[in-house]
Amino acid sequence: MIQITVEDRQGSVRDVRLDGYVGQSLMETLKGEGYDMRATCGGLALCADCHCLILAGERDLEPAKDAELITLDTRPDAQDNSRLSCQIRVADQLDGINIRLMGYAD
Ligand code: FES
Repeated sequence: MIQITVEDRQGSVRDVRLDGYVGQSLMETLKGEGYDMRATCGGLALCADCHCLILAGERDLEPAKDAELITLDTRPDAQDNSRLSCQIRVADQLDGINIRLMGYAD
């Protein structure tokens, strides 16, 4: 079972099962689960619309690559635990992570 906890942009928190989404991006998965994911760049790590904070479980994720880090650098609200959800693939190691969706840049 892969289950994560998601806090949306209004502060609502719920647990989301990801078992049917293995291999897809977390951004697409969250969109499929009804979350507002504007994703202007379509998941190319260019827009930061999918910016989220990893509140727990960050060490279980693959490290961010350069393209992701460069885009996150454009966000004044980026923090040490910021990630782009389009660059995270759903896999077993996501089980138990806790994320907060961040606001859009404009
Ligand atoms: S969807 Fe554009 S950076 Fe993730």
